[in-house]
Amino acid sequence: MDRLKGKSAIITGAAEGIGHAIAAAMAREGAHVFLSDIADESGEHFAAKLRAAGHAADYVHCDVSKEADIVNLIATAVGKTGHLDVMVNNAAIAIGGMPVHEMTDEQWHRLIAVNLTSVFRGCKYALPHMIAQKSGSIINMASAQGHIGLDGWTAYAGAKGAVMAMTRQMAVEFGPLNIRFNSISPGTINTPMNDKLIKEIGGNLAKAWVKMHPLGRIGEPSEVAEAAVYLASDAAGFTTGTDLRVDGGLTAAPRYVPDLL
Ligand SMILES: NC(=O)c1ccc[n+]([C@@H]2O[C@H](COP(=O)([O-])OP(=O)(O)OC[C@H]3O[C@@H](n4cnc5c(N)ncnc54)[C@H](O)[C@@H]3O)[C@@H](O)[C@H]2O)c1
Repeated sequence: MDRLKGKSAIITGAAEGIGHAIAAAMAREGAHVFLSDIADESGEHFAAKLRAAGHAADYVHCDVSKEADIVNLIATAVGKTGHLDVMVNNAAIAIGGMPVHEMTDEQWHRLIAVNLTSVFRGCKYALPHMIAQKSGSIINMASAQGHIGLDGWTAYAGAKGAVMAMTRQMAVEFGPLNIRFNSISPGTINTPMNDKLIKEIGGNLAKAWVKMHPLGRIGEPSEVAEAAVYLASDAAGFTTGTDLRVDGGLTAAPRYVPDLL
């Protein structure tokens, strides 16, 4: 415990799913966590629960597709603690399940705004504070789908591949200033995002997901959170420019099972 003691950490998309688990784990490890989301009621409730458990936690509304919201989120965290040590650009949406020629321009632009431009801005506005303090860890949420192909998810995969490429670039550029950049690529994780997809797509999607992972199950948000805590901590002080796959072996041995879908 106390692996993040004294650190100030922002997590976007923290009301549900992976972001929720990351925020809880970082709070338990002693960070002052700033949770942000568009789901204000559950975000506020979660922050209050963390505070009741004795942790330092604040909730800030932030729609990551809005530049002013990201600016405000980072200013709030720095205003309250005087520093920003960890920025987790986690929030994203799943628009897919259709061939690329059936995707509208509107869907494309929405996905890019929430899943990619948000990461650019999260890094852009966190950086001046980290440059000034000559330290920081930025963790960008990528996906196994940035590594392998699945039909119907071109735009999502494109955004996640770009997140990884940008993370590497910034790791090189800001390494000399002791600012680390890493991404995490989860496999299929048990979150509301996937519950929704199972409802929408139906069939044997849930069974297919299990089969695709050599470990024979999908992952839990807490398993991704452990990776984020590590990357945020001083134990990862020599780790930058990497993509950490938390994917049950999915990308090591793709087992695509379309007949089950
Ligand atoms: N669940 C998976 O299997 C999986 C796999 C690989 C990568 N990922 C990635 O992990 C991250 C988290 O995914 P998840 O499964 O926990 O998703 P989720 O949908 O379960 O939770 C996402 C959270 O982000 C919030 N959110 C949505 N739009 C937002 C916006 N515009 N601004 C701010 N917050 C917003 C939601 O309210 C929700 O609280 C995403 O980047 C996702 O692409 C997930």
